[in-house]
Amino acid sequence: MRIVKNKIFIGDVAVKDIATEYGTPTYVYDENKIRTNYRRALKAFSKHYPDFRFFYAVKACNNPAIVNILRQEGAGIDAASVNEIKLAKKIGLGGEDVMFSGNFLSDDDIRFGLKSGVIFNLDDPSILPRVVEFGKPEILSFRVNPGYGKSNVGEFVTNAGPNAKFGVHPDQVMDAYRAAKDAGITRFGAHMMPGSCITEPEYFSFITNLLMDIIGKVGKKLKIQFEFIDLGGGLGIPYRPGEEGLNVEEAAKQVAGAFKSKVREYGLKPPRLMMEPARYFVGNAAWIVGKVHSIKKSYKKIIGTDIGMNTLARPAMYGAYHHIYIDGKEKDPREKVGLCGQLCENTDFWVKERELPSTIKEGDIVVVENAGAYGFAMSYQYNGRLRPAEVLVNGKDHYLIRRREEFGDMVRNTSVPDYLKKG
Ligand SMILES: Cc1ncc(COP(=O)(O)O)c(C=O)c1O
Repeated sequence: MRIVKNKIFIGDVAVKDIATEYGTPTYVYDENKIRTNYRRALKAFSKHYPDFRFFYAVKACNNPAIVNILRQEGAGIDAASVNEIKLAKKIGLGGEDVMFSGNFLSDDDIRFGLKSGVIFNLDDPSILPRVVEFGKPEILSFRVNPGYGKSNVGEFVTNAGPNAKFGVHPDQVMDAYRAAKDAGITRFGAHMMPGSCITEPEYFSFITNLLMDIIGKVGKKLKIQFEFIDLGGGLGIPYRPGEEGLNVEEAAKQVAGAFKSKVREYGLKPPRLMMEPARYFVGNAAWIVGKVHSIKKSYKKIIGTDIGMNTLARPAMYGAYHHIYIDGKEKDPREKVGLCGQLCENTDFWVKERELPSTIKEGDIVVVENAGAYGFAMSYQYNGRLRPAEVLVNGKDHYLIRRREEFGDMVRNTSVPDYLKKG
């Protein structure tokens, strides 16, 4: 995003033109930014550990156009569900290009995963007997809970450590692999998800050491050669102005150093190193373009926009911060105001107080930053406020990659028994 002569551009396209052509609210993705983010991180990690691959965690943003960009860059897919495996297949990725990291899997999930030949990443050994009963997977890993987790998003998002629902307890990892080996599985990997939106580079080597101390002992004792170790996602981005971003080169250098030293310490055959970030690739590569519809002066001044918690759930869900710009007014004097969407929920009042231009008027274009990860993917239809459009910008070109929902989408899949239609 750039501000030129007070006008906001995404790529080379003015947000005003996006609003005119596609309406509001609209998610706008910058293709070049996604590619730049990906290449920077890939270069950093492969420089220090050449046998390295990213698997993009598609849950963060599942628009097939976006997923195709990451596929073109060489990423595999981290899928959390059967439908995400189907999405991978739709864009031409299957088998061991897909990591299936669902949790609390149903029989149908397991059967579909086995049929697809994806890498099974089990969240708990209690699932193993059904996996083996339905047909042994070619290659299997366990999601290890390394006993520690961290989140810069909020404590609810901490996905490892004692309060997480995910992963195999560190004390159960040895038995989990033993059971898998006894069941006749011959190819193995290991996985963890270290945390969420971490911007401190040293955290990644710290948590890599924790995982490798668990996995190294398993390899040594059970004589298992791990084909891959997947260090999960969690590469963070800054959300607040002035916040420092992750030094990915430093994180990569430290992670590779820790990894190689643990591989040596436990006498492992060097496994492929994998990671499955999402936020780092797409988080800062999308903005929501919305509009001010009315301004209320009550206990405080509230700017009413069409960007509600249904459009962007993160602020209401996690108390997440997203920076806001007003097209054409960034140089104007500021005052403290609130900002909200149009839903009948007070959590939709997602900015209680922020310095914004005092000149804001009805019809102004609002731009919300860092909306690419867990943005559209978490949007919903509450109050009949339907999901927004998605647009991809490449330089001066722009493409509609998901049309705005309409009434038919709200009632699609519903049916009314005949007796209710009468009277
Ligand atoms: C298993 C797994 N892998 C990868 C990710 C991607 O995380 P991030 O977007 O923080 O990189 C997630 C996110 O929740 C996840 O659950």
